[in-house]
Amino acid sequence: MCGILGMVSKDSFSVRELVSRLQRLEYRGYDSAGCATAEGFLRRKVGSISGFLASLPEDAAPDATTCAAIAHTRWATHGGIAEQNAHPHCAGDVCIVHNGIIENFLELKEELELKGAIFRSETDSEVIAHFLQQYAAEPDLHKGMQDLMERLHGTYAIIALRKGDPRLWVAKKDSPVVLGIVGSGGSASADGYSSYIVSSDIFAFSDLTRKAVFLEDFQYLMIDAKSARLYDRKGKQLPVKPKEFHWESHNGGKMHYEHHMIKEIYEVPDVARNLEESLAGPQAASLSRMISLLRESSRIILLGSGTSYHAALLGRHLLTAAGLDAYAYASTDFDASMARSHDAIIAISQSGETMDLLVTLKAIAARPDRGDIRIMGLVNVPHSSIERMADCCIRVEAGQEVCVAATKSFANQIVALLTLAKAFGFKTTYARLPLAEVIEQAEPVAQEIAPWLASKQSMYIIGAGACYPAAMEMALKIKEVSYIHAEGMLAGELKHGTLALIEKDVPVIAIIPDAKSHTVSSVKEVEARGASSVLVAGADKAELGLKGKALFRVPAGSDAEVSLFAAICGQLIAYYTAKHLDRPIDKPRNLAKSVTVL
Ligand code: AGP
Ligand code: GLU
Repeated sequence: MCGILGMVSKDSFSVRELVSRLQRLEYRGYDSAGCATAEGFLRRKVGSISGFLASLPEDAAPDATTCAAIAHTRWATHGGIAEQNAHPHCAGDVCIVHNGIIENFLELKEELELKGAIFRSETDSEVIAHFLQQYAAEPDLHKGMQDLMERLHGTYAIIALRKGDPRLWVAKKDSPVVLGIVGSGGSASADGYSSYIVSSDIFAFSDLTRKAVFLEDFQYLMIDAKSARLYDRKGKQLPVKPKEFHWESHNGGKMHYEHHMIKEIYEVPDVARNLEESLAGPQAASLSRMISLLRESSRIILLGSGTSYHAALLGRHLLTAAGLDAYAYASTDFDASMARSHDAIIAISQSGETMDLLVTLKAIAARPDRGDIRIMGLVNVPHSSIERMADCCIRVEAGQEVCVAATKSFANQIVALLTLAKAFGFKTTYARLPLAEVIEQAEPVAQEIAPWLASKQSMYIIGAGACYPAAMEMALKIKEVSYIHAEGMLAGELKHGTLALIEKDVPVIAIIPDAKSHTVSSVKEVEARGASSVLVAGADKAELGLKGKALFRVPAGSDAEVSLFAAICGQLIAYYTAKHLDRPIDKPRNLAKSVTVL
């Protein structure tokens, strides 16, 4: 949620350059965009970053170049989607961008208003600018940053600058912020580089550098053209230790694809193969450490949100089938007090930054009796907060996912969980998953039924056992990108109430691993009431004895493997239905990719 960006450089750069870089963070929020420079240029606009970019002065214009600037792409939490609520927020000479939520903003606002501050927005963030403006007479913002961190309650990644002062000030608590150092300079410090880019995530600068400094809570940075200095909340200078990271260096473009979503679905077979190789090669040590920690644990608790929760549900099936005592919870459904001694917590997250998950993990880590509760990560983005706080971590290596809807990262979460389960004796059908075949066979069927599904107001997706998580995931994907109501449920639960909603031609998509599955009876029950069933099955219609308006024939396999194949069919169904409806597939309304607020 919200992408924040700051750049300081020895050589001047244009605001257009800054905002083009901001575009790489657009998946973090797209309600409005804005930027401010140390030279005093300020612009904010509701809508997409490309619209914002078009509104900026040409590079040759006198106010269009800068040596220190900040920018923001917003996902609104406090205050509507309006220009006055767009960031940066300024007070006097201070401008700030913020990701997070300031919980005590009303109290601070009242206090600052008594001192004469005039507020212009409905946001929580504006208090930060007025607070720092109190330090206008000081030569720097050291005291301002320290006092700010003392007074703010809530979550924040903040970048501040002052007009006429080419330095950036950065503070962090809970929300992510990372400094990229570009060019050559002091290898063990952040001194002497040609430019510094501070951002919500590494993708903002991964085309320029592999060196980054990941800030921890209650640290702040002062960045000028020559150096970046790190401090603790009391102002004590800390050593800056840049880390090498490896991440996508491309510009995040769609290549010849119409949308990132379809491009990323097509990438599934390759990234899955890469992960299998990585787990057998460079990540083998992390994998075996995770396996041995799991062996020593009594219970395994898998946690995640949204799609990652559905991966956790499937992980529970896999690990239970392998003889382990495994449980899955949505991040917000698991309280730190529920963790017991000897538990292994597996935190699943594409971004590694989801706040609902992070707060639970932090609360577990802070338990005085934490003792031998282990925290493990299954993340996609390297060096993310979850990876940094985990006792051990596996990277799912799906690469940069730009579409807000998770596709290839989900597939690789399942590949990683299958590998873990195999280590405990789970029997898979395939040594190499036939994922390209799944896509090839499913795509024409998805294209064919899309216009019919697009005409519906509601649909039901059913599955049992290990196929239930795929039903949930398919429903989420359909809702997220096509805006059609879809309910994922256990097939057997239908007859306990939801069957009342089944009438002529209502779509019921059923995930059926083989003819022995009880889901066959559930489909018979809905077909008997006029529903149009769509079968995603490891068997043919005749074997299943079902009418089926359409069939996604997937390779036969263990229930868990069929579940993964079905989830991929679901990604294609969601994509083509949304495309038929001309939805903004990569950036669905109201959503953002990295949910870094509670
Ligand atoms: C998936 O399509 C969604 N965009 C969303 O549910 C997502 O999976 C969820 O917010 C969790 O994100 P994470 O994997 O980065 O933690
Ligand atoms: N609370 C701020 C706003 O509404 C920032 C939101 C965010 O980080 O998502 O503008």
